[in-house]
Amino acid sequence: MKTYTLITGASRGFGKALALEYAKKQTNLVLVALPNSGLLLLSNFLKDNFKIDVLAFEIDLSSKENCIQLYSEIKREGASVKYLINNAGMLSNGLFENMDEDYFLNQINVNVSTPTLLIKLFIDDFKANAPSGILNVSSMASFFHLPKKQVYGGTKAYLLSFSKSLRKELKPYNISVSIVCPGGMNTTTNLCLQNRTLSGISRSSILNPEEAAKITVDQFTKGKEVIIPGKMNKVFMFLNSILPTGIKNRLTSNAI
Ligand SMILES: NC(=O)c1ccc[n+]([C@@H]2O[C@H](COP(=O)([O-])OP(=O)(O)OC[C@H]3O[C@@H](n4cnc5c(N)ncnc54)[C@H](OP(=O)(O)O)[C@@H]3O)[C@@H](O)[C@H]2O)c1
Repeated sequence: MKTYTLITGASRGFGKALALEYAKKQTNLVLVALPNSGLLLLSNFLKDNFKIDVLAFEIDLSSKENCIQLYSEIKREGASVKYLINNAGMLSNGLFENMDEDYFLNQINVNVSTPTLLIKLFIDDFKANAPSGILNVSSMASFFHLPKKQVYGGTKAYLLSFSKSLRKELKPYNISVSIVCPGGMNTTTNLCLQNRTLSGISRSSILNPEEAAKITVDQFTKGKEVIIPGKMNKVFMFLNSILPTGIKNRLTSNAI
């Protein structure tokens, strides 16, 4: 059976950059994004230019039924998943009291329930194709408790903790679990505009998704547990480990 790398949220941003990186490595791909996302165009481009097999599914992964449907359709195609990259995610930036509850309930589904369920659905594929692997896309927001990113940061902290535990459980099966925690990236138009307003070290920490994807794929291939793309982000992590809590709280509260 042919083996594939499954990437969710592959139509744009970081997911698209990861798909390109894997295509360059001549890896067969299963790509997923929401309907009418341009995913089919990307899929044809990758097939034509890299001579790899690409399966594309436009499906809303926010429900359990749709995740199960995706699994069934992949099996119907006779594909077996060796690597899973849980990248699809919903971002947010705003005061909790102003957030729409339907938005954050959906966000919790897409950022937490969906990656968890997809890993469960494909666990036999990972075992059959070992050495195999799972990469969960978290965020630097999982380490810093930022105002305006309460629900988002909480979902990403879940992924970090879940992945670290799962890594220990799946190691005996030769299934490697990694987590990537990117800092700011120029992905959506909104983020590109926001990032341009930054200055100093914050601005220099911003990466293009292509740069972050190259570092991520390289370190995931080496089996690294927690991947932090970018030198400045590593500096932030170092400062986080040495600064007293009171100072960190004052600095992060400024984000309000
Ligand atoms: N950008 C950053 O600064 C940053 C920083 C740290 C971590 N991250 C994480 O990196 C990941 C990618 O971020 P990004 O900035 O590249 O995001 P993005 O440009 O908004 O892309 C999100 C991707 O997820 C897909 N998606 C969203 N909801 C979905 C659903 N219900 N079902 C199926 N697919 C869905 C989108 O499909 P459509 O194109 O069809 O909408 C799109 O392909 C996320 O997990 C994010 O939390 C991003």
